Amino acid sequence: MKNIRPIEDESRPKVYIETYGCQMNVNDSEVILSILQDDGYALTEDIGKADLILANTCSIRDNAEQRIWGRLEQFRLQKKRRPGVLVGIVGCMAERLKDKLLDRHIVDIVAGPDSYRSLPELIRNVTPDSPQMNVLLSQEETYADITPVRMDKNGVSAYISIMRGCNNVCSYCVVPYTRGAERSRDPQTIVREAVDLYSNGYREVNLLGQNVDSYLWKDPDSADRDVNFAQLLEMVAKISPDLRVRFSTSHPKDISDEVIYTMAMYDNICKHIHLPVQSGSNAMLEKMRRKYTREWYLERVRKIRSVMPGCGLSTDIIAGFCGETQQDHLDTLSLMEEAAFDSAFMFQYSERPGTLAARKYPDDVPPEVKTARLNEIIALQNRLSGESNRKDIGKVFKVLVEGVSKRSPDELFGRAGNNKVCVFPAEGHKTGDYVEVEVLSCTSATLISRLVKG
Ligand code: SAH
Ligand code: SF4
Ligand code: F3S
Repeated sequence: MKNIRPIEDESRPKVYIETYGCQMNVNDSEVILSILQDDGYALTEDIGKADLILANTCSIRDNAEQRIWGRLEQFRLQKKRRPGVLVGIVGCMAERLKDKLLDRHIVDIVAGPDSYRSLPELIRNVTPDSPQMNVLLSQEETYADITPVRMDKNGVSAYISIMRGCNNVCSYCVVPYTRGAERSRDPQTIVREAVDLYSNGYREVNLLGQNVDSYLWKDPDSADRDVNFAQLLEMVAKISPDLRVRFSTSHPKDISDEVIYTMAMYDNICKHIHLPVQSGSNAMLEKMRRKYTREWYLERVRKIRSVMPGCGLSTDIIAGFCGETQQDHLDTLSLMEEAAFDSAFMFQYSERPGTLAARKYPDDVPPEVKTARLNEIIALQNRLSGESNRKDIGKVFKVLVEGVSKRSPDELFGRAGNNKVCVFPAEGHKTGDYVEVEVLSCTSATLISRLVKG
């Protein structure tokens, strides 16, 4: 079996990897490490020891890119301290900005999300005067045959990318430009990777895609053997009842009843759906090209809750999109109340060059209004999260232990199926165990619990 953990070998050249952005980037960094380990590198967590510094970057909002420009100045210092150190910018910002990243003469390598197999060659060909770049996007690349080298700390929960790219064109979003067209990965390679993780002690896999509900593997020989997302979920759930399955992200326009019923059928498919709504206003949803309405979204929520009472529901919200009125904003707040989200990621709209919105709609909500609306959204979500947590007091959850709590060395933490974090006394349990806990009280972020003796 292939080594899925970082190799420790002092004699190898060292790569240091910083990862920004979404879970898919985290998993991509594990693919990159696998490719580089095969090429003779070993991972270091100390940038001062690195021969190669990589930043796996994100372009989703302007502030994500600004952070990277700031980091580049730090990398320049490292190059001064250790002559010969190479700096590579990979990921979405590499794809978006291409050779513009070379302007400051810090970066030696620019590699987009579909070109990681060429990293060893790019590294070999770099000279001080000729930085190397590969930003070709691919219709086929899924890295299906590459076993990611896991960089998580706990050895319990792992990401598996089941598809790449995105075929939607939400008008605000840069992802289709940085990640290219959607393609699904061979389900057999996904199942094999999950089996491998399970036999290495992992107890949770998180299936990743920008829109998992549009996952579709077309069998080359027979359409009867095509695999959709619900079928893939079932295949992974059947590996072992002790291997939990999570997934992200679901798209409200595509999440099917079949997916919801498949979730309900298997105890080891965690009852949590991340279902980004973006806005509660139909006018905004239309302009965002999300291809669903507020009514459609709320119907999906009702369906989920009727089939799986207690299913965790989280979302993403954008405040201050182009032309957003006070009434549009109020519609978002009222949708949040109706959906009663357990948690949310909330952002101010950030115009991304080249997107449909940037070309068609003026970014006309003043910054202070965006901030004020975002703050209202955050305040409301804090209340909703608190209410949701209080409803869990007295309930018993099966929790997968993920590590020792920050609060105390005698306490452990882990997540319930609904994705909420529980903290409880260790009493002899350890990371990777399943335990039953009863919720005693809560904060806005945590369920304080006790062990239920079996
Ligand atoms: N594929 C996922 C989302 C990926 S990006 C989906 O369709 O739901 C994660 C989140 O970033 C989005 O859900 C959105 O809320 C936010 N986002 C994307 N582009 C943005 C932009 N230009 N400004 C602000 N937030 C943005
Ligand atoms: Fe972006 Fe929309 Fe694709 Fe999500 S579904 S990655 S928001 S274009
Ligand atoms: Fe960012 Fe790219 Fe992910 S833009 S959110 S790292 S797909």
